[in-house]
Amino acid sequence: MTASGYIHGFGAQEERRLWEQAGILAPVVFAGLPLPLRGSLLEIGCGVGAQLDQVGTRCPQVQLTGIDLSLTNLNAAQGFVPGSAASAARLLQADATALPFRDQSFDTAMTIWMLEHVNDPSAVLQEALRVLRPDGLLLCTEVDNATFRFLPELPAIQGWWDLFCVQQSEGGGDPFVGRKLRGLAQDLGCQEISTQELGIVSTELNPERRSELLAYLEELLMSGAESLLAEQQTAARGAESPLSVEGRLAQVRNEFAQAKADPSIGFEYLAVRLTCRPPNYSL
Ligand SMILES: C[S@@+](CC[C@H](N)C(=O)[O-])C[C@H]1O[C@@H](n2cnc3c(N)ncnc32)[C@H](O)[C@@H]1O
Repeated sequence: MTASGYIHGFGAQEERRLWEQAGILAPVVFAGLPLPLRGSLLEIGCGVGAQLDQVGTRCPQVQLTGIDLSLTNLNAAQGFVPGSAASAARLLQADATALPFRDQSFDTAMTIWMLEHVNDPSAVLQEALRVLRPDGLLLCTEVDNATFRFLPELPAIQGWWDLFCVQQSEGGGDPFVGRKLRGLAQDLGCQEISTQELGIVSTELNPERRSELLAYLEELLMSGAESLLAEQQTAARGAESPLSVEGRLAQVRNEFAQAKADPSIGFEYLAVRLTCRPPNYSL
């Protein structure tokens, strides 16, 4: 099941953020990935269909299916997907831990930026493995929020990020799930397990890319603001700091402006990609 509080919230802003995020991070997410050229692919937690669009662009012959628990996101996908590379995708509402598909029905099963939001990632992976064919590929790309940092450290951004992670953990999610993927796959008996770190990193050589990534990170941090502001109403969390959430938010924005103006400020945020085969793997 999903963690109780989806930290990014729902609504038009989050739907647009997901769609844009997929495009901005695609060079990192899809670099060197052995995507299938044909067959069927299921994305578990497909949101607004943004990753299906990215896959569809790269693998036009693949039959795409996406499931998501959120009708809001699936309805938003109806606005984005037509006309996109994912226009032929089948989109269904379903819980990742109870997929409405027969055993061994897909060639590839994929999660991306999804397992951090559930309280039992192993149950999601187990269900993904159930619907994979014996020669199928499981592909998960997930965050490891412990790797996020600015160099030199920008204290308001770092403090906000830490709060963001605490809030997500308290809601039942796991912002550090990326570094656990290998262990999860091993425990489930998967074969040919491989993990790889994917870097969202600053570069002084490409100022445009640096600006794009900074704008993306700022939006990502801001996407937790509403939920943290709501939390402030109910908890005494504001007492932990002399500043209110609004005050901290203003400092975070100032530090992002500082980072945008100073190319010597570096940043790094690593994701982890798992690829593996099901326990009953056979070619
Ligand atoms: C951060 S979004 C990522 C969406 C998409 N993978 C992307 O990268 O654009 C996470 C998605 O997982 C979905 N989700 C969370 N828990 C789920 C569950 N138990 N079953 C199905 N979908 C779930 C949420 O509704 C949300 O759309």
